[in-house]
Amino acid sequence: MPQIPPLAGLCTYEEAARIGLDVDSTVARLVRYAWIAKRLMETALYWLNPTPEWEVKEALSLHAYLDAEHAALIRARVAEMRNPPPRLDVPPDAALDACLDEILAAEDTLEKIAGVYGVLRPALLAALREHYAAANPLVDHPTRRVLRLLILEQEDIVAWGEAALAALTDTPEAQARAGAWIAHVQAYLAAAGGVSGVEPLPEAALPPSRARRPFQPDFFPRRDERFTGQWNFVFPPHEVARTDGIPADEKTLALMCKRTLEMDVPEAMARIIAEAERQPWQYYVDMCRQLWDEARHAMMGAVYFERLGVDWRREIPLHPGFAIRLNTALSPLEAHAVLYTIEQSLMRATDGKKYEWRIAGEAADPLARLFQDYDWADEVLHVHTGRKWGVAAAGISREQFIALGQKCAVESEQVLAQYADRGEQVNWWPAFVRRVLGKESAMPTDTASTTDPVYRKGY
Ligand SMILES: [Fe+2]
Ligand SMILES: [Fe+2]
Repeated sequence: MPQIPPLAGLCTYEEAARIGLDVDSTVARLVRYAWIAKRLMETALYWLNPTPEWEVKEALSLHAYLDAEHAALIRARVAEMRNPPPRLDVPPDAALDACLDEILAAEDTLEKIAGVYGVLRPALLAALREHYAAANPLVDHPTRRVLRLLILEQEDIVAWGEAALAALTDTPEAQARAGAWIAHVQAYLAAAGGVSGVEPLPEAALPPSRARRPFQPDFFPRRDERFTGQWNFVFPPHEVARTDGIPADEKTLALMCKRTLEMDVPEAMARIIAEAERQPWQYYVDMCRQLWDEARHAMMGAVYFERLGVDWRREIPLHPGFAIRLNTALSPLEAHAVLYTIEQSLMRATDGKKYEWRIAGEAADPLARLFQDYDWADEVLHVHTGRKWGVAAAGISREQFIALGQKCAVESEQVLAQYADRGEQVNWWPAFVRRVLGKESAMPTDTASTTDPVYRKGY
């Protein structure tokens, strides 16, 4: 006769009676996963600006957020497993940390992808699976639940990495270079006893370290050569989207260009987060979530133009000016103030996110409307995030923080003058409207300049 499943359906009586890992060895492994997740998050933040390939920036944005979330889940579980919990802000193992330092010392995109996605993440996934299988399914259900979620998401990450590495190694030379770096990183990981730390240590000596010099972060945002207009700082869509008398379809086109430009926000946030001093872990979760949202906003624009058959990397001058300004001319706190000042101004019904959503509706453009709908929801969340972590960290009032943001936004504009001769400063909007909408732009042409009205108007 069929029985109601016992043990809440987790496993059979036999499976629950198998001896799994004890509390101490479980905690020892979890602490290593949390450290790896933290260092992977930091690595993604350090790489987001100097890595030119757009698609890599997209993935680094997602993966930094997932790593922050995974570390939060592991930290919470560790805190449940008897007191006192081990420290999670110091490396659990110098050899493991040395491996992570080597990975960070990658010299270009090929090595970055090979080290993280060709070695560390597959090894992490294997260790998570092995741990999941070894843990007792009943007594350590809380850990297994966390591991299961991590495995699911890490599988997706590793799949992206495999495909990215295959794309980057399409020549024998690239394959040889990737292979050499993979062997280098593998040697350092093996010397740490693998991800779990319990694998037998090899006899062979380590290859010479690449990471002997102290790591110098590079927060200058880069675009690959497909972005032919990346040094043209004229970006009329900022103005077009808010100008009275412009028809809704032209305004909506401008809004979608503005979304596509938003990769400069993850770039600016990567530096704010990476340079933040000793914040509670929730800071990293919230801020990396916002970073990922901003990358998604840029991806919304890309999706919109792919659908229209517009070669958006070439036809829209997607300059990294905002990130250049914030990353090179302002302190992390000043940069956060600029970000918060802009985002709280987007809450105005008259010309903020609600207005943008309404415009896309007036244009009877369901895809743009959906994008603006979620963009609006995300930005409401970001205002809370900015208030929680920006204003609080500044130690000044919200009004003072906004005033600081306004001042820094305007003052940092002049920084772009240093880069303006790298490309032609031209108003591309009339030709773009003609090409995409098949009509003349209603925007007066004499309004185009390299100053950015978003940061000047209507605070
Ligand atoms: Fe955004
Ligand atoms: Fe935002």
